[in-house]
Amino acid sequence: MRNTLSTLRKTLAAGRKLSMLTCYEASFARAMDAAGLDCLLVGDSLGMVVQGHDSTLPVTVADIAYHTACITRGSSRAFLLADMPFGSYHESPAQAVNSAVRLMQAGAQMVKLEGGAELAGIVRQLVQSGIPVCGHVGLLPQHVNTLGGFRVQGKQVADAERILADARAMEEAGAAMILIEGVPEPLGRRIAQATSAITIGIGASVECDGQVLVMQDMLGLNASPARFVKDFTKDLPAGEGGLLERTFRHYAEEVASGRFPAAANVYAAAGDDAAAYGSQRPAPAPAP
Ligand code: KIV
Repeated sequence: MRNTLSTLRKTLAAGRKLSMLTCYEASFARAMDAAGLDCLLVGDSLGMVVQGHDSTLPVTVADIAYHTACITRGSSRAFLLADMPFGSYHESPAQAVNSAVRLMQAGAQMVKLEGGAELAGIVRQLVQSGIPVCGHVGLLPQHVNTLGGFRVQGKQVADAERILADARAMEEAGAAMILIEGVPEPLGRRIAQATSAITIGIGASVECDGQVLVMQDMLGLNASPARFVKDFTKDLPAGEGGLLERTFRHYAEEVASGRFPAAANVYAAAGDDAAAYGSQRPAPAPAP
């Protein structure tokens, strides 16, 4: 049976953290399902790791819908999320519902949007239309051109307060899940503690309810991985299944038990972003 928001909450209530990976194809979805991954995300990172662009901006709703249909056919157990790509939701609540409906009809159980308080009306409209929402706060890859690069966010007090307020606004508008990307660990922990939505971290904090990584990153396909990435193909424990299934299980077990992320995989303090984002993202911009 496929996971739902309520089975995910039961897993958390039983004291186990949630594992999520990006996934774009049926065969990988099958291996992730067999490995016990709780959630699969068709991230707009597919623009970079699948399509070879240098940002997520060229990805379209049709691209995400296509890959969502692929992983829906390949999996029967994991909870499925799909990213709302750049330009597909900011115009109006009606545009957002229209885009989200296409992703839900392709098989998604939840859509993810990057932003904060400014999206409250759009999130409310989606939820009222029966579309579960995951808010994405902190480092927003769709804002790469306004951020001036893929940099850790929330290092200054005012920025940290704004990101926390964004997470709260998303939750108040009805988001059932919040993904926190690329913030100092104390801020990631603070957001995780401040919200009752399910929190998923990437370069955030082990205190989040779960973790996500881009699949290609955790398979060690990037030459210069970011600090928050761990290559799970290394030191693979013996076990059942093929190489990929065992690698995904290794990740799922480390996340479930709270062993990942370790201190080495989070941004502990201001200025600790030297490595910034690895080759999944373009080279980090130099410090101003
Ligand atoms: O697009 C993506 O892969 C993401 C990551 C933060 C997981 O949103």
